[in-house]
Parts: sequence; C-alpha cells; structure tokens
Amino acid sequence: MSNHHTLTILPGDGIGPEIMAEVRKVITWLESNTALSFTLHEDDIGGAAYDRYGVPLSDETLEKCKASEAVIMGSVGGPQWDNVDYDKRPEAGLLKLRKEMELFANLRPALVFDALIDASTLKPEIVKGLDILIVRELTGGVYFGQPRGIEDLGNGQRRGVNTQVYETYEIERVGRVAFDLARKRGTKDKKGHVMSCEKANVMESGKLWREDMTALHAAEFSDVALDHMYADNCAMQLLRNPSQFDVIVTDNLFGDLLSDAAAMLTGSLGMLPSASLGETGKPGVYEPVHGSAPDIAGQGKANPLATVLSFAMALRYSLNEDETATMIENAVQNVLEQGIRTPDIMAVDCTEVTTDSMGNALIGAMEKTIKRAA
Ligand code: IPM
Ligand code: MG
Repeated sequence: MSNHHTLTILPGDGIGPEIMAEVRKVITWLESNTALSFTLHEDDIGGAAYDRYGVPLSDETLEKCKASEAVIMGSVGGPQWDNVDYDKRPEAGLLKLRKEMELFANLRPALVFDALIDASTLKPEIVKGLDILIVRELTGGVYFGQPRGIEDLGNGQRRGVNTQVYETYEIERVGRVAFDLARKRGTKDKKGHVMSCEKANVMESGKLWREDMTALHAAEFSDVALDHMYADNCAMQLLRNPSQFDVIVTDNLFGDLLSDAAAMLTGSLGMLPSASLGETGKPGVYEPVHGSAPDIAGQGKANPLATVLSFAMALRYSLNEDETATMIENAVQNVLEQGIRTPDIMAVDCTEVTTDSMGNALIGAMEKTIKRAA
C-alpha cells in the first residue's frame, strides 16, 4: 500500500534553508524505505520572497499552501529587511500565512528529553519529565485587532495604537482544541488539565476569555480539569514549578511570550516544534519555534531537530501517519542518547556535529529502527 502526500516546503530566511535540507533528507529516506511518497512544492516566504517577488508571501505561494495537505516552514526575518515597510517585512508574510489559512490554534509542546536535562538553565529536578503543551490563539488579539497604526498628533508627538480584541467564537474554537488535546493526554488515573491564561484583572478581553472558557468547559468538557491563571503569574509559575502544567491555553500575545519562556525550560529553542491548525481537515502549517538566527546562518551550526520534529507533527496531525511520526521522534531521542549534539545543546562528553551531520545521524537512527522491525 502506498500513501501519497502533498506538502509545501517554505525554507524562508537565515538558517531556514539549511535546516530544511535535513527535513528533505528525512523525506527522501522515507520515500525509499517506507510506503510513503510525497509531492513537494518548494517556495519562498519572508525576506527571501520579498527579494524575489517584492512581497513576503505571494498569492501564488499562498494558493500552493492552501492546496497542500501541510506546509513545512523554516523561519523568517533578518537584519537586511529591518527598514522595509511594516506590511512587507518578513514577519508580515508569516502573519498573512496564519491569517489567510485560518490557523487559529498554535500548538507548542515543551518537552524535556532526558538526555538534554542538563541543557536547561533550571535545576534537573524541576524540569525532569516535563511535558507541557501550549495552545496559543494565532489569528486574533492584538496582532490583528483594529484600529492599529502610528498617528501623527501634529504637536511633535505621535501615538502608536494596537487593539486587543476577541470575540466569543474565537475563544471557543481555540478552547475546543485545547480541551480536546487535554482529554487525549489524560489517563485513567489523571484527568487532562487545561490552564487558561489571560489578564481578566485588567482587560475586558481577558474577562470575556475567562467567562467563555468556563462556559465551554461546563457545556462540553467537564471530564477535563480547568483552572484559570493570570498570564504574568503563569510566566512566574513556569519558572517556579513548571510540572504543575499540562495544557496551557492563552491568547496570541501572551502565547508568544509564554511559549518562549516554556521553550527555554527545555534547554534549547533548537529542539522545539510547533503546529498551527485550523478547522479539522484543512492544511496545517508546521514550523520550529526558533527564529531565523541570522548570526549563525550558513555556518552549519543550526540545530535541525525542531524542524524535523515539526515535520513529525505534520505527519501526526495533518497526514494521519502517526506511526512514522513516532519513528522520527524516537530517532531524535536515540541520536540525543548517543550524545550527538549541535552547538546549541552541546554538553560535556558529547560529540559536537554540524547541521548536516545531525541529519545524517538521524537517518542512521531510522535505519536501525527499520532493521530491528525487519
Ligand atoms: C513566533 C514569532 C512570530 C510571532 C514573529 C516572527 C511574527 O515570534 O512565531 O513566536 O510573534 O508570532
Ligand atoms: Mg515568538
């Protein structure tokens, strides 16, 4: 039986192309060693797209993405585009992709691999076994709210405005994703738990968020546990006692901040994948949590694992290829256990390797799995 899938690959800027090369390696390997086959469309996003098309995401590229089962993205941005107009900056391409594809739920797992426990800046006993899933609302809030802009007040002063706005349907649909995932993560002995974070103490949009989450929970998800926390307290609790969290659901801006904080508990941004999902059955976008790291671009120092793990999430959530996803995740774990490290996660007694060699080590680990299965 052969399973064919259509993907769009958007390497983007900075380290994007070199980490995506390792994903391609994995894809090529899967094509020759499993029943999977892929049609890959490759295109530009971010600064690369701006340089080529004059816009950070062209309509043609967007159409290709919408027509695929999943999009695998590298990263966008770099200092050479710092002076480009706001609506043409690399980041605007990514925001357009999220908005136009209606990817309202951004899943950012923060998982501590045992082999990397010493890479965390926190004590091992605080982060051991950590497995948090942040569900960030991605198409609303202050990132997109109107009015926005910079206004000249004519008296030598200017006014910068952004608007935080949420409607009930936006809160409910991201809430459903979070509750549903918590339900699946729950066990016989321990219910799944959702921590909903906002600033209901100072923001009306936060008050609405809390009320709507409470109502949704009572109506559809009473088998899952729900608690609320102010977002600033959540930032503090993530550092103090992160294992109290299971699933965290929060808005676009708080999610941006809290997911970076949660990411660092694991020791390296270079390890963390993400999935951006819309309605069931629509294509998702999968990208590492880290940025384009222009300072190390092109030097073979980048860690490709977050992007490879993002591809694994695509297999799981968009392509329905759970088994292959698990195989890739196990290969990542295996490589880490062998002490193979890119510079960002380097530790004593480990072997430092380049981006390319990390990809090769991963293929080696997958080879072993196949042999074992045969
Ligand atoms: C992220 C990034 C983006 C965001 C930028 C690049 C627009 O920080 O995905 O977390 O703010 O959402
Ligand atoms: Mg961010």
